[in-house]
Amino acid sequence: MAKVLVIGSGAREHAICVAFLKSSQVTTVYCAPGNPGMQRDGINCVDIAMLAFADLAEFVKAQAIDLTFVGSEEPLAAGIVDYFQAQELTIFGPHKAAAQLESSKKFAKQFMQQQHIPTANFRAFSDEAQALSYAQERSLPLVVKENGLAGGKGVTIVRASTELAAVIHKGLQHATEILIEDYLSGEEFSLMLFVGGTQTVLLPLSQDHKKLSAGDKGPNTGGMGAYSPLPQMPTTMYQRALTQIVQPTMAGLVANKLTFAGVIYIGCVATTAGPKVIEYNLRLGDPETQVILPQLRSDFYQLIMALIAGKLPQVEWQKAESYLGVVVAAPGYPQKPQVGLTLPPLPQNVYYANVTAKNGQLYNAGGRIFTLVVHGKNLASAQEKAYQQLEQLKLAKFYYRKDIGFRGLRTTQSLFGK
Ligand code: AMP
Ligand code: GLY
Repeated sequence: MAKVLVIGSGAREHAICVAFLKSSQVTTVYCAPGNPGMQRDGINCVDIAMLAFADLAEFVKAQAIDLTFVGSEEPLAAGIVDYFQAQELTIFGPHKAAAQLESSKKFAKQFMQQQHIPTANFRAFSDEAQALSYAQERSLPLVVKENGLAGGKGVTIVRASTELAAVIHKGLQHATEILIEDYLSGEEFSLMLFVGGTQTVLLPLSQDHKKLSAGDKGPNTGGMGAYSPLPQMPTTMYQRALTQIVQPTMAGLVANKLTFAGVIYIGCVATTAGPKVIEYNLRLGDPETQVILPQLRSDFYQLIMALIAGKLPQVEWQKAESYLGVVVAAPGYPQKPQVGLTLPPLPQNVYYANVTAKNGQLYNAGGRIFTLVVHGKNLASAQEKAYQQLEQLKLAKFYYRKDIGFRGLRTTQSLFGK
């Protein structure tokens, strides 16, 4: 029987822990640092920070933990996998060299160019004047990105030439280097894989809702909701994503000696010229994970352990239903979320994120507080179910989007194109 440690503290990690607890082989799940909302499900929170590698490794040895699963990107970029493997501890996640596909946007772009993976044209700059003169020659909109991990917040889409100078200036104040990319127009989707060496397991497709407000308006956030699978995805677009993106990505890992056991998350756009890559992440998506892992019908622990051994596991996903998750956030999110709000009693189908506990009562401690996840016979019924349930909860003080799943419900010709 096995013990597992999950690293991270959000609703994504809560969903990962729950998936492990369902395994017949797993007796105990720890989460470092976790959050007090997780304890309801019998998850053991461990008060060790994600970047305290020595303390984490010591805990794993002391508790004889069989597997560590890294949920969050920061420890991966800082080399937790290299650190654990040097001590012969079993861990699922990319080593630091591969994690650069997420932590360095420039590295990812060069990798894509080398493998002829479709993506937006780009150039990197550390000089403000050169950046501006390049940008002024391109047609708008343009996308300006800080090179490095920015939690989805270091990206600005510039639609007016009058804004270019200020955006470039601000980007180079925050980061030593910026990327200027052509804007890709089309519907975004999240294509995730579990990998182990050259073995791959495809996860069901999903779609995040990164903007704060209904109709995808307002500022970018860490994600306001997700659904899976995607009824509007044409088979041809998906097949192209597999042959033009997934296959060359795997070939590129082999060619550059970067193979690992972990997650590859490919943020794609379905353009009229076919699927293109916006970004790689080397960990599961949040909130996508909350609607994907509950679809797994086979054993999660066996899946992960097989991939670590470089073997192809038996995997089964449900196919009959739609899963939909709505993120409930604090007023003021993302700029200045209110904290310390009392949470009402919440149902079992909730994954917790930024919460603290005092005398058994939960309070919010940050912007995104929990994800409520439902499933229904199709997307429309899942959406209806989610909002009926949310309306019955006492959430007047909180904020959530009322239209999660709207792109999948459009009855007109799919925006995914062919
Ligand atoms: P990133 O940090 O690269 O994931 O970018 C965050 C978000 O900005 C993406 O999810 C997209 O919504 C948007 N974005 C980034 N790059 C582009 C692009 N080249 N064209 C259109 N939208 C983009
Ligand atoms: N859902 C977007 C992300 O996890 O980066």
